[in-house]
Amino acid sequence: MMSRTSYASDLDSKAGIDHRPGTNSAGPTPSAKVCFSSVSKSISTKGAKQLRFRTWLSRNLPQPLKAALGRAILGKRPVGSIDFGDFARSSPINRHFGYHRGTPIDRFYIESFLTSHANDIRGRVLEVGEATYSRRFGSGITQQDVLHVDEQPEATILGDISRDGVLPVAAFDCIILTQTLHLIFDMRAAVAQLERALKPGGVALVTVPGVSSVDAGEWGGGWCWSLTAHSARLLFRESFDDQGLTVEAFGNVYTATCFLQGLALEEVDRDMLKHCDKHYPVTVTIRARKARAKPPPN
Ligand SMILES: C[S@@+](CC[C@H](N)C(=O)[O-])C[C@H]1O[C@@H](n2cnc3c(N)ncnc32)[C@H](O)[C@@H]1O
Repeated sequence: MMSRTSYASDLDSKAGIDHRPGTNSAGPTPSAKVCFSSVSKSISTKGAKQLRFRTWLSRNLPQPLKAALGRAILGKRPVGSIDFGDFARSSPINRHFGYHRGTPIDRFYIESFLTSHANDIRGRVLEVGEATYSRRFGSGITQQDVLHVDEQPEATILGDISRDGVLPVAAFDCIILTQTLHLIFDMRAAVAQLERALKPGGVALVTVPGVSSVDAGEWGGGWCWSLTAHSARLLFRESFDDQGLTVEAFGNVYTATCFLQGLALEEVDRDMLKHCDKHYPVTVTIRARKARAKPPPN
């Protein structure tokens, strides 16, 4: 399995991630540097200036004027006028989610999500693959377990979590299951096992891919699914109470395009990643809390 490149900056809080509709930016903020230029040499200075001007207009005009102008000018790209630049290719710039260039872009959302829920990562913690995120985001961990589907040095639990008896019952305060559920054909059974394995009040922190290429490496052969926020919610509702469930989707067309091309986080404009367009979910996150045991009747 490829190792993750860790990065600490910009992930202290996901407060900067913007879910509001209608705040889509057409390009980088005037103050943001155009990180994209090293990759897309064909975006000319003139093109970048136009992009910044469009962004400035879209941010500063009153809404009704913006809507009218947007219809007339901003959104209008005559057919045949698109500059495909370095994206005019039928194979990606990098086939491995950007690992060969730096940090995969989806890690921005995955690690923002874990930062936001760092308080959940305590007590007895199970993480899939390795304990990297537990070490980085957890505190007050009393026992660390690592799950792997087959032999792996760090693993304390081996097996397919969609099967009965692989995970202990009511054992964990927190389960970190990042980028794994989509590899399991029977996701319903896996989510039911997650719920069973949590202590009452325990929390599962789960991420799954939405818009994504299929892994060209170790996990590609077993890749079964991509999810939307809607399907993730329906899936987790089968095993968890609605009140304990928070499902969110992160990404936009810029993120999706750069991610599909295998660009790395280090070379894209992070401000542009923060806008969330529900029609382009790159990463879906799920926080699922198991209901606390009801007090016995008097
Ligand atoms: C792509 S890695 C992701 C894990 C890693 N922590 C991350 O965030 O990148 C896939 C992990 O899924 C686990 N896995 C795949 N199928 C599984 C299954 N049926 N049951 C349990 N774990 C499984 C593998 O053992 C592996 O650790």
